[in-house]
Amino acid sequence: MRDPVRVAILISGRGSNMRALVEQASAYEVALVASNKPQAAGLKWAGEHGLETWALESTAVGRQEFDRRLSGVLEERDIGTIALAGFMQILSPGFVDEWSGRIVNIHPSLLPKYRGLDTHARAIEAGDSVSGCSVHLVTAELDAGEVLGQAEVPIEPGDTQASLEQRVLAAEHKLYAEVLSDFVNR
Ligand code: GRF
Repeated sequence: MRDPVRVAILISGRGSNMRALVEQASAYEVALVASNKPQAAGLKWAGEHGLETWALESTAVGRQEFDRRLSGVLEERDIGTIALAGFMQILSPGFVDEWSGRIVNIHPSLLPKYRGLDTHARAIEAGDSVSGCSVHLVTAELDAGEVLGQAEVPIEPGDTQASLEQRVLAAEHKLYAEVLSDFVNR
């Protein structure tokens, strides 16, 4: 069995959760940061901080081929756990099956509420008094796998999508490292 402590983080953009995971890594080792977007800002930060990086523009090769090549890279590096952190591409069923039970994701809502996108706008629109974030196992169904941990964030009167996003993001940065540390050792 591959070593669960060896973590690959998958990103598509700024990578603030990736950065938080790197900065709080003690129970796990960030062995690779990978992306489907070679220009992702987070990739640059990872490279500058001595982490191994791998990127391939997924639109150039297609999703299936991207996943196939990514899987090869993860196997070569003996990766045991995959942490999605703002990875904006749905993984193919074959990939999810191959890595079943070994992929986690951070989502900016209290799942099962608000799967998918625009979670903050939807929570405000619904008049909710509390939002938050969830770390969950990735399965073939979007944002529907077992919830491993959650943090609540109150919605204040006058909150905008941007202000709520900012406070939830701060909670994400703390929650993800805690849950991942437990997960790799469970
Ligand atoms: C976060 O809100 C995360 O919950 C969601 O995508 C966003 C990624 O932000 N899955 P960052 O790239 O980690 O800064």
